[in-house]
Amino acid sequence: MTYNFDEIIDRRNTGAIKVERCKALYGSEDVLPLWVADMDFRTPDFIFEAIRERCEHPILGYSMPPKEFYPSLIDWINNHHQWEVKRQWIGFLPGIVPGLSFAVQSLTQPGDEVIVQPPVYYPFFHVVKNNNRVIVNNPLKTVNGKFEMDFEDLESKITPNTKLFILCNPHNPGGRVWNNETLYRLAEICAKHRIIVVSDEIHADMVLTGHKHTPFATVSGDAAQISLTFMAPSKTFNMPGLISSSYIIPNEELRKRFVDFLEASELTGGNIFAYAATVACYEKGEEWRKQMLEYVQGNVDFVVDFLKANIPQIKPMIPEASFLIWLDCEELGMETDELFDFFAKKAGLGLNKGTTFGTGGEYHLRLNVASSRLILKKAMKQLLNAVIR
Ligand SMILES: Cc1ncc(COP(=O)(O)O)c(C=O)c1O
Repeated sequence: MTYNFDEIIDRRNTGAIKVERCKALYGSEDVLPLWVADMDFRTPDFIFEAIRERCEHPILGYSMPPKEFYPSLIDWINNHHQWEVKRQWIGFLPGIVPGLSFAVQSLTQPGDEVIVQPPVYYPFFHVVKNNNRVIVNNPLKTVNGKFEMDFEDLESKITPNTKLFILCNPHNPGGRVWNNETLYRLAEICAKHRIIVVSDEIHADMVLTGHKHTPFATVSGDAAQISLTFMAPSKTFNMPGLISSSYIIPNEELRKRFVDFLEASELTGGNIFAYAATVACYEKGEEWRKQMLEYVQGNVDFVVDFLKANIPQIKPMIPEASFLIWLDCEELGMETDELFDFFAKKAGLGLNKGTTFGTGGEYHLRLNVASSRLILKKAMKQLLNAVIR
């Protein structure tokens, strides 16, 4: 079966944040919304079928995950990432961002230091700050157009109060797929200083052509023992509104501390539709995933080529994973706020402002290309007209 990703679907009046918040953020409902990291593609049919099938039963009572839930996840991770995960290591998590907050709350104390690598997905800051922990920034360096970790800076910032490191693997923004060597070095440093690593791997199943995802926990024995890994089908299969993710924690003591917190807060259960949809993704989603990634790769190539040929002042960081392009707009000669306004008001485009991702976000915007190619063509045309005007 060939899926149609060219289709344009009207998302107005569905509560879609990407659309509903445009007026408040960009000053108009008419901007093309290319920001929130969900896709404008139709959520695949096998997900709706699974939900419909569950609706055939007349009672939507309190339910456990179906018996296929964990085996389908274990098989998926083994087949896609060559990681043999044991059943007792894993459990349901009601969202990855909530999971990050639970990790902060269960594994650190108020006042402890938590390391993040900006520019990075902004809720990483919120879960630290809002729980009264201290953010320590270990900014990424840009080397030959790609993000690299700065280990010297990292080691210089670790103190006896540094307890947790939140890793984005692959990285958002920028779509960097961290390789074995980088993750191994990170694990060495964190193990030496007894720092726990939470590896957010929500983008793991969306690695683009020529790249391969490496789960942090697989790079060494230390990495497995000091880490919590969070994964989800939600972003890959465009169903983040259903809220379904999982934790994987090989170390028994760490797992106990985390799970005790979940249990004490009554946070261990999901909803029946999320369970059914998750099984459907892992059992039936491979063909859709492949075709979706091929289409996204085509969109990335289109935008990169268009900018190179027509607006070379804007330099895209070429993503190795996912559908988010990090645009370096410094050569347009505007401050970040001005740039954001220029995109919204002159080009009619709603993108994420770079500085929301912290240090290193100055002069940048993040562009979501998980839309119909026709929309992206329109967006690039509007941008070009604004720049040459
Ligand atoms: C790195 C990263 N983590 C987590 C999330 C969201 O996860 P969830 O919806 O499960 O809280 C996103 C969404 O953009 C993301 O990019």
